[in-house]
Amino acid sequence: SADAPARGLHVVITAGPTREPLDPVRYLSNHSSGKMGFALATAAAELGAKVTLISGPVSLPTPEGATRIDVETALEMHEASRRLAEACDLFIGCAAVADYRAEAPAEHKIKKTEGEDDLTLRLVKNPDIIADIAAERDTRNGRPFVVGFAAETRDLEAYARDKLERKRLDMIVANDVSAAGLGFGSDDNAALLMWRDGDGEGGESLPPQPKAQLARAILERALGCLPTRPVH
Ligand code: PMT
Repeated sequence: SADAPARGLHVVITAGPTREPLDPVRYLSNHSSGKMGFALATAAAELGAKVTLISGPVSLPTPEGATRIDVETALEMHEASRRLAEACDLFIGCAAVADYRAEAPAEHKIKKTEGEDDLTLRLVKNPDIIADIAAERDTRNGRPFVVGFAAETRDLEAYARDKLERKRLDMIVANDVSAAGLGFGSDDNAALLMWRDGDGEGGESLPPQPKAQLARAILERALGCLPTRPVH
């Protein structure tokens, strides 16, 4: 119906940072607050979807109407995402997943070494969650529709288009995370939307606005790309 265009759809959204342990008391992470992903979950629930929110460690309340799964590491987020993506209609990867984790987190707290001024940490690549979801989607019947984000500090359009193609995404939401007052942690954001199939050149630009409002616009554009279904 017009007021609940996402009724009957299952939307899975990842949000927040991941946290990669170095030892029992330290980790590698980033500045994602979860606000953008939680705003998407809120908007999807408001539009009538069944919503599952896979969240890294953030301090935000669970959006009304969403089922929340808390994870810490990229490997945990990968596992939960693969399990849930299989039966969903729309998968949105808004999480800022750590690209690397410690190869072997120390079992005990890492101590300063007398006389050594440097410490070498060996990192290994984490799986690319959204690229795996898209690859698995390709082995099925085109479901789910996969939307990724691209957080860039320069050459926004070129890097985002490369991620769109390389990860085999259906749509990408590119945001400039070096712009003051936008991106990580803030209440506002702006985005450039691009599609793998036919958006012409240049994409669609959404100006700075509250994340709640931007989330609505992103979802409406993504939902508009889903195959039409019989109305129940
Ligand atoms: O949480 P907020 O404070 O509100 O900030 C919002 C945000 C800036 C974090 C958000 O808008 C955003 O840009 N999220 C994506 C951040 C990111 O990690 O982008 P990326 O360009 O590194 O990754 C590209 C895409 O691949 C993303 O969809 C990401 O979820 C996905 N990815 C990346 C690495 C990895 N190992 N697995 C992934 O699935």
